[in-house]
Amino acid sequence: MDSGALMGRFDGQVAIVTGAATGIGYGIAKRLASEGANLVMVDLNGSMGEQSASEIAARGTETRLVVGDVGESSTADEAVRQAVDTWGRLDILINNAGITGVDGNIWETPVEELDRVYRVNLRGVFSFCHAAIPAMLERDYGRVVNIASIAGKEGNPRMVPYSATKAAVIGLTKSVGKELAKTGVRVNCVAPAVVHTRLLDELTPEQIQYMVDRIPIGRTGDISEIAALVAWLASEECSFSTGAVFDISGGRATY
Ligand SMILES: NC(=O)c1ccc[n+]([C@@H]2O[C@H](COP(=O)([O-])OP(=O)(O)OC[C@H]3O[C@@H](n4cnc5c(N)ncnc54)[C@H](O)[C@@H]3O)[C@@H](O)[C@H]2O)c1
Repeated sequence: MDSGALMGRFDGQVAIVTGAATGIGYGIAKRLASEGANLVMVDLNGSMGEQSASEIAARGTETRLVVGDVGESSTADEAVRQAVDTWGRLDILINNAGITGVDGNIWETPVEELDRVYRVNLRGVFSFCHAAIPAMLERDYGRVVNIASIAGKEGNPRMVPYSATKAAVIGLTKSVGKELAKTGVRVNCVAPAVVHTRLLDELTPEQIQYMVDRIPIGRTGDISEIAALVAWLASEECSFSTGAVFDISGGRATY
């Protein structure tokens, strides 16, 4: 894709991207950087995070890496501190880190598995919003984009903790969007159908086929397609949408 015409949309802005070492998060980080954003990249995986951060830095973007678990609120505090101490501002928060959890029907899934998935998928999003929004309100400007899932709207079988926590991300987005509607901060989420990333390694071929079979366009999504939508939601152009869910599902979502 030729993003040349869009160069500079985020010039001087500062973005935090969680789960930025690989997959969709890395794709979003690269896209925001290509349009001028300075980045705080957050990931649990330090070695992959360093490699991805240095690849982006090599193209001329200023980056900071925070290695940590988004389920710990101290990770969110550290990411916001890095943004504000380094650049004096925070414009964009992309809550992307997420895990699918183990495959299984609810009666086969240990209750602790819900806690594990909840900690990353919901507590992580809550903690980063909690830490980042005051910094955005300081300048009365901000864009928060949460990565939910079509599973949160429709519910995928054998993925109850995932579907339930992604539904919760949608609820959180609607609620926080309304809290901030009279300010310059916009809060939205995206609900992708299946995108080919490492996350799929945790799934069985049957689970992946289940998801592709429900996509009228008949293929998985591409990371660059998600990054393009997220970049618009993270930009000033996204001014009259907040608390909304943006489907990116190859036609799977119909409401
Ligand atoms: N791939 C898909 O089909 C798909 C579809 C819909 C939604 N999503 C969502 O998109 C997001 C990204 O998915 P992906 O496919 O790129 O996943 P991925 O597994 O390829 O990458 C996830 C990244 O998040 C990091 N991470 C995981 N747990 C973390 C934690 N506790 N703290 C900090 N970092 C952590 C990982 O190290 C990794 O770098 C997730 O929220 C996922 O639920 C993915």
